Parts: sequence; structure tokens; C-alpha cells
Amino acid sequence: MTSRLPDDFFFGAALSGPQTEGCWKKTGKLESVWDHWSQQDIDAFYNKVGSYVGNDMGNQYRGDYKIFHDLGLTSARTSMQWTRLIDQTGALNREGADFYHEMLAAAKEEGVDLFMNLYHFDMPYYMLERGGWEKRETVEAFAGYARTAFREFGQEVRCWFTFNEPIVEPENSYTEGNWIPFVHDFKRAVTVQYHIALAHALAVREFRLAQKEGLVRSDAKIGLINCFAPPYTKEDPSAADLEAVRMTDGLHNRWWLDLAADGTLPQDVIDTLAARDAAVPARPGDDELLSFGKVDWLGFNYYQPVRVQAPEADADEWGNPVFARPYIWPERRMNESRGWEIYPQGIYDFGMKIKREHPDLEFFISENGMGVEGEDAFRDESGVIQDDYRIDFVRDHLAWVAKAIEDGAKCVGYHYWAVIDNWSWNNAFKNRYGFVGVDLMHGYQRYYKKSAEWLRRVATTRVVE
Ligand code: BG6
Repeated sequence: MTSRLPDDFFFGAALSGPQTEGCWKKTGKLESVWDHWSQQDIDAFYNKVGSYVGNDMGNQYRGDYKIFHDLGLTSARTSMQWTRLIDQTGALNREGADFYHEMLAAAKEEGVDLFMNLYHFDMPYYMLERGGWEKRETVEAFAGYARTAFREFGQEVRCWFTFNEPIVEPENSYTEGNWIPFVHDFKRAVTVQYHIALAHALAVREFRLAQKEGLVRSDAKIGLINCFAPPYTKEDPSAADLEAVRMTDGLHNRWWLDLAADGTLPQDVIDTLAARDAAVPARPGDDELLSFGKVDWLGFNYYQPVRVQAPEADADEWGNPVFARPYIWPERRMNESRGWEIYPQGIYDFGMKIKREHPDLEFFISENGMGVEGEDAFRDESGVIQDDYRIDFVRDHLAWVAKAIEDGAKCVGYHYWAVIDNWSWNNAFKNRYGFVGVDLMHGYQRYYKKSAEWLRRVATTRVVE
């Protein structure tokens, strides 16, 4: 099957500072929660590979931007690290700023427009010690960091984002307790989620102020990136199944979509939270602050849908409210390495939801990708990894993107996660995502997999075969 994407549709790479830069002791960088956790308990990381090196991009970025250029990619999104740009007093760290100035200049030289996100799960450890997202002070500190970033890089960066996947920390760190600070308390998770929403809105307000003062480029724009997961349930759902969908969709998707599109939070979700003893810690005047949350465009990360049904119990073993339990669709196809369902049509379904509900809101696929364990097993006699599964994955998703565009969705581009293999949190380098591999045994050297040539063709022709 062949599909075509519009001539001005862009292709690029999705990455993040904490997963690529490394250089954790350089430029006066402070410890993030990931650096701290790696120091405290290296066994929590696959093969004992902690956060320190990323994929060594902090040393190799010139070569990496050349690779992007060679593959026909015209943009990439990364994130600044709060811990590199800002010191413990809240002031700009000049050495850290220069690190990013040099990176931006190197990207430009290769014709790569570097989009900049401000936060990718990388809380400074000293901020976590002060209470992290549970405290309003952190919200204000984040707004200060954003203000500094907009003003320092205003003439260099065109596309800004406040957060990547703001839903992940409330879930992973405060409900499921898998990530530092290992909490299982839904009430605290709701506080975190609410404060991140406020932090997003305050950062957008800082952006608008800088815009008014002419301190950012005239073509600059700001967005929010979330892993939107289209929700599905059984074919013949009960009222309780639909209620499970409402709250799952409400917390995961609508919360961030309403904030980004309208500067509001979904009232039905807020009411349900209050009724379940997890009220948001709202203060007078917050609604006005949240109204600044409206963005210029949206990043839509898509890996998998969420399938739910009514829960069996109202509360979990920690006494937290439970709104849904997983529904295993009998026809599901899995990426077994990651344990994630592969369902390309989800990208269309959610894209059309954005179109229906917010017809003027432009968006791009800001992440989509396939991480596979043990890719060495797929090397041919000449040593090249034959990753046809990756080509199939991307082709199938792009076909649905093309269809969404045909049907009126304002989807303007696609960033693959991660064009070059990178460090994946606790999984470190277990699952490889790249079209380009990284050889950990030989100085993090880059090498092309079979799919790289395929990507070059798609990115330069916009024909997907
Ligand atoms: C996204 C994140 O959720 O998925 C990335 O924005 C992450 O940071 C990517 O790396 C892939 O997930 P994982 O857990 O396999 O690295």
C-alpha cells in the first residue's frame, strides 16, 4: 500500500536532553532525579547503565545532526535540562546556556530546526527534596526557569514546548510508585497533576510576555506534548465500562487537551476526583492562571491505545480509588519487547478527535516508534540489522496519518522516537528504537540499520511504501 503525505509535511527526530546528552558532570550541571537515583541504586537500571552518559550526544551532536541531515530530516525536538540551565539559586548557569547555544548553532548549520522542550521527567533533585510538584514553589520555580530560557534563546528557537507527557509523573512516580519518589498515593498524584497543569500555564504566560516584549522570534510558537492514548472498551459495553472510559480518558487525555486547546480543566473529572477524596488543591484565581494554558499547537505522542473496562474493586491495595482495569482485546497485536499494543489506527482515531473537537488546533506526531530487545539477532552476514519490523511499524502508522490528513486533520509533521538509539530510563539500552544504532562497546559509535535508507526515502519524497 502506498500513501502520500503533503509536500510541506515535515519529518524529524524526537529526543530528550536527559536521555541523550550525558555530560552529567560538565557545564556545572546539577543532579536530576535520574542522576540521583542512578547514584543511589544502579541495580534499578538495566545492565547497570545509569543516566550519566545518555547516548553521548552531548559530545557527538555535530555528527548526529549530520546524520539527521543525511536522512532528510529537517527538524528535531529535544529538551533543555533544568539542571543544566539553572543553578540552585534560580539564576542562569552561563556554562550550561553556552552548551545549548552551541548545540542550536550546530543543528542550524546542518539545516535542522531544533524544537526545544523544557521538561522531560527531569526534576532537579534539590527541587524534589523541597517537595517537587507537590509544592506551589516548584510551579513558580518552573515558570522562572521558562522565563530565563525564553529570554536567553528567544532569537534561536522557533518551536517551544513546556512539557513532554505530563501525565507520566503523576502515574509512574506518585500512583504506581515505580519511579522516584516511589509513592502510591492517588491524592498526592492529583496534586502533582494539577500543579504540572499550572506550571504549564504559567510557562505559557511567560512566553506570551516575552513575545509582547519582542524577546522571542516573531515566528516563535509554543505547545504542549502529551502521549494521548485513544481509549477503547468492549464491543458491547455496560454503563460501568463507559464510566471507566470517561475517567481514564478524562485524566489521561482530556485534562491536557482541554488545557492546551481552551485553557481549562474538565469539570466532570474535577468533580469525580473531589467525590473520591482526591480534590485538586485549587486556590482562588487559579482558573485565570490556567486560562493562559492555551497553546499555538500540540504535540501528539502515540505508541499505543488504552483499552479499559469497569474495575473489579473500588480501591487498590493502598486504598487509592480505582476507575478502570485493563481490557484485553482478543485481536490485539503486541510489541512483545516493550509489552505495548501495536494499533496504528489509534493515531487516526485520536487525530480525528482533535479535528472534531478543536478544528483549528494544529498538531504533529511528536513521538511514535518501536523499541526492540536483542536487535543483534537480526544482523545479516554483512552485519546490518534487518529491522523490517520497524519499517512495517512506521509505514502502518504513517498510512493512518495520511488518511487523517485527507479527512481534514491538521497534522503537519512526524517525529520518530528515537532516530538514534538512546537511554530509556530504567530500561537503559534494553529496547532499541533507532534507525541508527549506538555501539555501547565502541565509544557509543553510530551505525545505520536497514530502516535508515527507507526513512531517507520517505522523508525526502513523502511517499510511504
Ligand atoms: C515516551 C517518552 O513515553 O516514550 C520517552 O517521551 C520514552 O522519554 C519513549 O523513552 C519510549 O518509552 P521507553 O520507556 O521504552 O523508553
